[in-house]
Amino acid sequence: MKKKIYVPAFLAVLFAAMVFTGSIGFTEKPESPYFKYVGIKSCAATCHKGDTKGNQLEIWQDSKHSKAFITLQTPEADKIAKDKGFDTPASETPLCIKCHVLGKDIDPEELEDTFDKTQGVQCETCHGPGSEYKRITIMKDKQQAIANGLIVHEDGAVFCKTCHNSDSPTFKSFDYDEYWAKIKHSDPSVSK
Ligand code: HEC
Ligand code: HEC
Ligand code: HEC
Repeated sequence: MKKKIYVPAFLAVLFAAMVFTGSIGFTEKPESPYFKYVGIKSCAATCHKGDTKGNQLEIWQDSKHSKAFITLQTPEADKIAKDKGFDTPASETPLCIKCHVLGKDIDPEELEDTFDKTQGVQCETCHGPGSEYKRITIMKDKQQAIANGLIVHEDGAVFCKTCHNSDSPTFKSFDYDEYWAKIKHSDPSVSK
């Protein structure tokens, strides 16, 4: 009798060990490398600010993009959400958060501790999650940066309209040249 259970029991232990050590897995492994959102400080605390770099931090701070989440915390925003049929405050309504933070649903798995949604539409919303390309050794080589998560927009207008469109409850119009002029932050050291 004992011999009969020995083999299945051994196999069960082996199987458990393989799952435990990751030799076999049931969950799909994330794309590798797996880029994460790190928040504005990693981009702009030391590098992307000041005249010589193109004032990216200053221009963003002065733009409405930096206040996009704060805007959702106002009674005006709550009223818009209510009128749209939501029974949650705007700042807790996924549809509103989508366009006012990352341009997509926030997945906690994609966030590092330094990420802060109250920064609204921030650098990484437009340029991609920066955990890997933020490193100076990678950033200095544009192709490497792109391979590590940096998103470059060939057609700015098409990109802006992923949020600036009539799905926005307050949408009136969007003129790319006029709007880009308000937030343009090119790097003067990069010749085009
Ligand atoms: C992820 C969504 C998203 C993307 C992408 C986006 N925006 Fe915005 N934008 C917003 C939101 C949300 C606001 C409103 C913020 C607020 O008022 O709190 C806004 C506001 C603005 C404003 C201020 C408008 C005003 O009334 O003064 C300008 C200018 C602007 N965006 C330009 C652009 C340009 C140019 C692009 C493309 C390069 C772009 N945006 C891409 C979400 C986005
Ligand atoms: C609303 C979207 C948006 C936001 C927010 C945004 N950018 Fe940009 N940025 C763009 C677009 C579009 C371009 C021009 C095309 C490109 O390089 O992708 C650009 C260009 C740049 C460039 C110039 C690249 C070059 O080769 O000249 C730098 C550097 C940059 N952004 C850094 C930042 C930093 C740092 C922040 C945050 C403080 C930021 N951006 C916030 C959309 C945005
Ligand atoms: C498709 C993207 C998108 C969605 C979804 C969205 N917004 Fe916005 N929101 C924007 C953009 C872009 C602006 C900038 C002005 C404009 O074009 O309406 C904005 C501006 C605003 C403003 C400022 C209006 C002003 O005149 O200054 C408020 C308030 C606001 N949104 C609340 C909300 C609320 C509440 C929700 C959810 C019910 C929501 N938004 C959903 C993209 C969006």
